[in-house]
Amino acid sequence: MRGHSEVYSHPLYYDVAFGWDPTLEVEFYLEVFERHAGGVRTVLELGCGTGRLLTEVARGGPYSVGLDINPEMARFAAGRIRQSGAPADVVRADMTEFSLTGIDAAFSAVNTISALLTDEALMSHYLSVSRALRRGGVYVVDASLNPSPGDREEWEEERDGLSVRAVWEVLDVVTERQVLDRLKLVVNERERVFELVDESPSRRLSLGDLSELPRRFGLEPVAWYLSFDPEAEVGAPPARGRVIAVLKKV
Ligand SMILES: C[S@@+](CC[C@H](N)C(=O)[O-])C[C@H]1O[C@@H](n2cnc3c(N)ncnc32)[C@H](O)[C@@H]1O
Repeated sequence: MRGHSEVYSHPLYYDVAFGWDPTLEVEFYLEVFERHAGGVRTVLELGCGTGRLLTEVARGGPYSVGLDINPEMARFAAGRIRQSGAPADVVRADMTEFSLTGIDAAFSAVNTISALLTDEALMSHYLSVSRALRRGGVYVVDASLNPSPGDREEWEEERDGLSVRAVWEVLDVVTERQVLDRLKLVVNERERVFELVDESPSRRLSLGDLSELPRRFGLEPVAWYLSFDPEAEVGAPPARGRVIAVLKKV
């Protein structure tokens, strides 16, 4: 699990690396929440990290609460919320075991649920989310299905003279439902260059992990998207690659 990692223990560098304009993602979440849950006034983000999406979703209207297991990430997010004045809060908690109720819409971004390695962890997560949502509420999950060795992404972001190059790649298949992957941040800060590396197992999410498993906890898949375009809804999800699932609390 990535709760305690070199990368997540350095939230500023993570935040620069993931610091692209979040408008597309935020508008997508707000639109999809309204479309599938209607009347959304409270939002929950699971594994909110530095709060880069949480704060912007809250600025869009709904009161938003984020959970993160990592104390450095949660502290960074709290500072961002304070500065922004957005109607949001962050709580340090484990997304496999938390107690909240009355939430209209929840989301988890950038494959965060792959940190839940076992069936037990994933089921415990769905149970907590299901209890947190009101009937008719939705859980929107942005995830990568069946990642394989060779999958790789590389990008670079810059802020205030600090630049970070990120390389994510799948290194190996560990078991049928686990891969070993690596996120490397190469930081260039005032001519000092150093690396932060997080190499750890992730869940190799299957389609069943986003359909049969949540269904057991009253979370019914009602829509699938392939990108952050609300018009990009597809009838059936792909077997592999990025997918955004909408699970509705029935
Ligand atoms: C890939 S980051 C995503 C952060 C943020 N959602 C974003 O879009 O930038 C995943 C986050 O999930 C958190 N996390 C991992 N396992 C967790 C758990 N069991 N409960 C709560 N948070 C967890 C990590 O600490 C990290 O901040």
